[in-house]
Amino acid sequence: MPRARTAFHELSVGQVADRSGVAISALHFYERKGLIRSTRTASNQRRYARDTLRRVAFIRASQRVGISLTAIREALDQLPSERTPTHDDWTRLSAAWRTELDARIAHLQALRDDLTECIGCGCLSLRSCHLTNPRDVLGREGPGARRLPQTD
Ligand code: FES
Repeated sequence: MPRARTAFHELSVGQVADRSGVAISALHFYERKGLIRSTRTASNQRRYARDTLRRVAFIRASQRVGISLTAIREALDQLPSERTPTHDDWTRLSAAWRTELDARIAHLQALRDDLTECIGCGCLSLRSCHLTNPRDVLGREGPGARRLPQTD
């Protein structure tokens, strides 16, 4: 089967998947979310610029520390068009995310501490359980059944 010719600076989706270790379906998903871009050949096959590999690495590293795809896209959108994140970009962006990550860590530590009190209990009391009704916030909303608190 003849293979489509690929310019040296372009990669097929299979090549990006092989080199990045990211599934083709995930690459298509990233593209639908506007995180990476491709062009199309005359036969409608996707072609990615080589710097896509660095973008994918940036996306994966960011996801690994819990950054949402929306926040990652906003970060990538701050970069000049078609430029890959540099070391300086990563330093700046990760510093901006540090506050958010610190808050999440503090929240998880508080949940862990609350869970410690609940292990072996199982009552899930709306009056006294820290997991189902932290600091009785639902009681301040009025009497009757209240929903479980939303998590971020
Ligand atoms: S499950 Fe009993 S206090 Fe939380």
